[in-house]
Amino acid sequence: MKTTISHIKADIGSLPGHSSVYGPVVEAVENYVKDHSKGILSDYRISHVGDDIQITMIHTLGIDNSEVHGIAWEAFKAGTALAKKVGLYGAGQDLLKDAFSGNIKGMGPGVAEMEITPRKSEPFIVYMMDKTEPGAFNFPIYKMFADPFNTPGLVIDPNMHEGFIFEVWDIMKAKRLFLSTPENVYDLLAMIGSKSKYVIKRVYTKPTHEKLPDENVAVISTDKLSFIAGEYVGKDDPAGIVRLQSGLPAAGESLEAFSYPFLVSGWMRGSFNGPLMPVGMKDAKMTRFDGPPRVVALGFVLKDGLLAGPVDMFDDPAFDGARKTAVNIVDYMRRMGPFEPHRLPDEDMEYTTLPKVLEKLQDNFEEIDQPKKKEKLKVATRDMD
Ligand code: F6R
Ligand code: MG
Ligand code: MG
Repeated sequence: MKTTISHIKADIGSLPGHSSVYGPVVEAVENYVKDHSKGILSDYRISHVGDDIQITMIHTLGIDNSEVHGIAWEAFKAGTALAKKVGLYGAGQDLLKDAFSGNIKGMGPGVAEMEITPRKSEPFIVYMMDKTEPGAFNFPIYKMFADPFNTPGLVIDPNMHEGFIFEVWDIMKAKRLFLSTPENVYDLLAMIGSKSKYVIKRVYTKPTHEKLPDENVAVISTDKLSFIAGEYVGKDDPAGIVRLQSGLPAAGESLEAFSYPFLVSGWMRGSFNGPLMPVGMKDAKMTRFDGPPRVVALGFVLKDGLLAGPVDMFDDPAFDGARKTAVNIVDYMRRMGPFEPHRLPDEDMEYTTLPKVLEKLQDNFEEIDQPKKKEKLKVATRDMD
């Protein structure tokens, strides 16, 4: 029977700034799901990274199901009530609408879901990132499913040898296209290197895959929160689900894609580039300069609608090297202060507060090749008390 994995996440308040969820609020979300999931969900798990609470749900109702989305929405509402009561910072910030309209997409929370034909063992990892954007998944998903130097299974395992199909979204124009690898690998790279514009949404096996033909095997949440809200209300920290093993990337091949802390955007004020640090749950809080951006990996198996797990996959000394490299990169980049490329270019900050600062200076500009109008260079002034 077809089964659906729905992962829905939201920032409904944190402390002391945007660094960490608050235990009792996570419990309030969990209690709501526990009390309202009967007859809808066969299993669920609640987790968190940084200021985002994450709900992983298993059911047979397919993607975009209003009952399933409704549970997540109302659970976040229940958590928000407590978050407001205790004065959490940004309480309810990702719940952008007052009333639930049947589909949580476009209402603030991030959604990654896929309908699958479960195998006799169905292993998968849920990756959850904070202080970054959906395009942060482009690099590791490419590595997992298209780079044999990361995933030797692409060369060694006959079931992977034919490659995969990538669904790429142009998130500015709301269009998508499908690219088949390895044939279109250069076209794929030409696009997904522009990670704030082109975002990998899903990966599929090819119809000829011997063990799992024509199946969705990876999905990323891509909801562009900043565009929904019209102005910056927090980066849409993404989550992704990756199925594993038996003709798909092994768990270790999937995790290996995070062994090098590549640069992502969305750090401090959603406006800085920094390294993505793989961490275990004990380090899933954002501290230094509100970061650095982090990724947590929770491993599960699914059988008859029930989950076993999670295993905290990055809680492993073998990732200490990656963490150390990330900290070195942080030390190096932080010394650039507000300068690019540590700070994002203007166009990527369109929805932040920077344009408001620049707007104030507009009246002070004059033509360069005209005689100087003012004796003194006119500067922005402010009234003295
Ligand atoms: C980044 C993030 C934080 C905040 C920063 C300022 O994604 O969430 O770095 O942008 O703490 O927050 P405000 O403007 O709420 O004071
Ligand atoms: Mg936040
Ligand atoms: Mg967040």
